[in-house]
Amino acid sequence: MNRTPVTVIGLGSMGRALAEAFVAAGHPTTVWNRTPGKVPPGAVAAGSAAEAVAASPLIVACLSHYDATTEALADADLSGRSVVTLNSGTPSGARRMGEWAVGRKARFLDGAIKNVPAAVGAADTQLYYSGDESVYAEHEATLRVLGGDTSLLGTDVDLAKLYEYAVGGTLLPALLGFFQGAALVTGRGRTAASLVPHTAKWLDMIASVLPTLADEIDRGEYTDPQSSVGVFHDAVPYDHEVTAEAGLDVSWHQPMHDLLRRAVEEGRRDQSIAALVELLREPA
Ligand SMILES: NC(=O)c1ccc[n+]([C@@H]2O[C@H](COP(=O)([O-])OP(=O)(O)OC[C@H]3O[C@@H](n4cnc5c(N)ncnc54)[C@H](OP(=O)(O)O)[C@@H]3O)[C@@H](O)[C@H]2O)c1
Repeated sequence: MNRTPVTVIGLGSMGRALAEAFVAAGHPTTVWNRTPGKVPPGAVAAGSAAEAVAASPLIVACLSHYDATTEALADADLSGRSVVTLNSGTPSGARRMGEWAVGRKARFLDGAIKNVPAAVGAADTQLYYSGDESVYAEHEATLRVLGGDTSLLGTDVDLAKLYEYAVGGTLLPALLGFFQGAALVTGRGRTAASLVPHTAKWLDMIASVLPTLADEIDRGEYTDPQSSVGVFHDAVPYDHEVTAEAGLDVSWHQPMHDLLRRAVEEGRRDQSIAALVELLREPA
């Protein structure tokens, strides 16, 4: 079977993994990187970004950011090409990138890869895209080479970055919670590793309640809670007691406690904890 030729622009940690996956799946793969010398076996190195773009109908760019991408592709003829970007960035950056690419007569799809380079090509590796649905329809099988959990979020070009940010918002608070727990148990002479199975199960539990909380938010209806604002609010003194006893810096708690207090002051004590989204929508 003839596989679609693909060009990969950018051979950093992630770009190289993408190129290797395309080569492994049998796609004729042309690559270009600003700094020469990083060509994966089986790929063809182009002498310039313009030459690399000319080699394939599908261009996958994975540079540090959108500005690097427009800079690298400045001299390339993009007309008729399908350009896919897989760098980090913001929704407005994706919109600007889309306008830039379409202004050069390319069809444009932005994407987000939600895993590390070593996971590229795995069946459950998640990538989501947004933008020109004709690019997605035409190249879905090729893009699926990068990860089996591949989807199109919609035709608004900035949706992939919007979801990337929306999903990523959980990361730092969750990790800080884990680090605080690690400080607590290591302060008692136990290992952080001893915490992992219990925290992992706790994270599974959190994932299991998200559909219920999301349903409450989507309906704007918080009156039949499984966990109320009051339950969280009344646990604040325990937070203070346990962390003070252990001598931990828990200054990161203050904004969360302020939010709970504000919710109670607004008469939301008996509402679902999901009602906090209403406070986030209306900053104090
Ligand atoms: N690594 C991960 O775990 C991971 C996971 C998900 C998403 N991502 C995202 O994927 C993107 C690439 O990540 P990475 O880990 O591959 O980064 P990286 O290893 O630092 O590589 C950066 C790439 O961008 C190129 N580049 C930077 N500025 C450039 C410019 N002005 N002109 C031309 N090329 C330029 C670099 O070229 P040179 O080699 O010439 O410097 C290199 O190919 C980032 O947006 C990152 O956030 C990464």
